Amino acid sequence: MYICPICREKLKLSDRSYRCRNRHCFDISAKGYVNLLTTKGRNPSKAGDDKLMLRSRTDFLDSGAYAPLADRLCGLMGELVKNIKQPNIIDSGCGEGYYTVRLGESLKNACICGIELSKNGAAHASSRAKAAGCRNIWIAAASAFELPFREGFADAVISIFAPVSNDEYARVLKKGGRLIVVSPTEKHLFGLKALLYDEPYENKPNHYSLRCFELEHEERLEYTFTLETDKQAGDLFAMTPYYYKTSAEAKARLAGCAPLETEAGFLIQVYRKKL
Ligand SMILES: C[S@@+](CC[C@H](N)C(=O)[O-])C[C@H]1O[C@@H](n2cnc3c(N)ncnc32)[C@H](O)[C@@H]1O
Ligand SMILES: [Zn+2]
Repeated sequence: MYICPICREKLKLSDRSYRCRNRHCFDISAKGYVNLLTTKGRNPSKAGDDKLMLRSRTDFLDSGAYAPLADRLCGLMGELVKNIKQPNIIDSGCGEGYYTVRLGESLKNACICGIELSKNGAAHASSRAKAAGCRNIWIAAASAFELPFREGFADAVISIFAPVSNDEYARVLKKGGRLIVVSPTEKHLFGLKALLYDEPYENKPNHYSLRCFELEHEERLEYTFTLETDKQAGDLFAMTPYYYKTSAEAKARLAGCAPLETEAGFLIQVYRKKL
């Protein structure tokens, strides 16, 4: 399924290593993922999420607070690929693999390929897939802007709160293939922000330049949920982009904040590749 990130030839798997005809070789790590980052991507100053963010994300997602999103995405994806015998689905920027595994469990006939810039994230995602017993999930460390798949490989790509690449998604998708993009709505996590900031602001909508795609469907999934413990509030906060930008004084407001009600707001957009 993968192509060589160096020469772009097909990679073949044997004895836990992927090799191309030009003898480039990529071993499957002990954790179960393969590192297909090119030298460009191997040592970026900050390659994706760090360990603390990943741990927090795992603990928070495992609490089930975003399960309604996972349920909806599994249903939507199931509809999109229902007539395909063995669909190839790429989860781009899959993080620690929560949605990847939910997709793998729900779409048993699909091949789910998670790619993630952070090697820690990729390791986490493969461990999660293994723990869930999903044999239809493949994880690689790779960039969304340099996907290790051949042209027309995928039936669908999904990008959840992760960077979006028009060119790469258009290249790896089949004609008419679908792209699901999930981004935050204006009020997403407003209750948490209201606790942290004196003047909380609403999120601005993301504008993607997806010129090879047409928007086919759009929906909002919005609900409120309660952060039951300070730890859960801290985990949620640590997985947001605000974490590194917030003062220590504001962070201190998390102590004793639970139970805290906050909004979840997801914009789910389904695009179809034009040509
Ligand atoms: C906010 S997290 C979302 C993770 C996951 N989709 C989820 O919703 O749980 C964004 C993820 O994108 C990853 N990321 C950032 N830049 C990337 C890139 N160029 N290619 C692939 N993943 C990237 C980060 O490491 C991080 O895991
Ligand atoms: Zn090669």
